Amino acid sequence: MTDDPSRRAVLTASALLPLVLSDAACAQSNGSATGPGAKTLVAYVTRSGNTRVIAGTIHRALRADLFEIRPRTPYPDDYDETVEQARRERDRGFEPPLAATVPAVAAYDTIFLGFPIWGETAPPVIRSFPRTHDMAGKTIRPFITHGGYGPGNSLSVLASHAPGAQIAPAFVLEADQERRTIDQVKGWLGQ
Ligand SMILES: Cc1cc2nc3c(=O)[nH]c(=O)nc-3n(C[C@H](O)[C@H](O)[C@H](O)COP(=O)(O)O)c2cc1C
Repeated sequence: MTDDPSRRAVLTASALLPLVLSDAACAQSNGSATGPGAKTLVAYVTRSGNTRVIAGTIHRALRADLFEIRPRTPYPDDYDETVEQARRERDRGFEPPLAATVPAVAAYDTIFLGFPIWGETAPPVIRSFPRTHDMAGKTIRPFITHGGYGPGNSLSVLASHAPGAQIAPAFVLEADQERRTIDQVKGWLGQ
């Protein structure tokens, strides 16, 4: 085969692009993550979008791959129903099955793991994620958003579910509360 410099340039350029891992990619891929971004993954959970903003910022700044952690069965659209379900799942230590898994997770040595605080702890899928992906030997860099009450016991929950991983100091940010937005909109509507 002849060495075609233009083809080589295209391949090199595409290898430099960070991946956004979709469900389709997860279903098909068995290890296509390569290139400089491949060593770092940004995996995150979000409901109202606050944590996604941070995840996207890290993804673009570090050219890291991006993966949204979602449960196989979505939570209700209704905020109060979600709060209630999350409380029940927390209390029984439920680990919901995930909608998709990260292909070739072994390729990553650093995982930025982002989540909102739910019921003063990590959302249930944050317990599922390290159970379904081997975290041993990896560095986890948590980033957490909360509505004003801090990270609760989320970091100790994470540590207990990711044995063998090194957990770096977390980035913790207070962010908009869906509850506050809902209450204000309902007030405006006169409800
Ligand atoms: C089910 C549920 C439970 C929550 N529980 C807490 C809590 O215990 N403490 C807190 O400070 N904020 C709590 N919040 C607020 C979120 O942590 C906060 O708004 C976060 O930034 C939302 O992130 P997201 O937009 O990425 O979903 C809760 C939100 C939801 C939806």
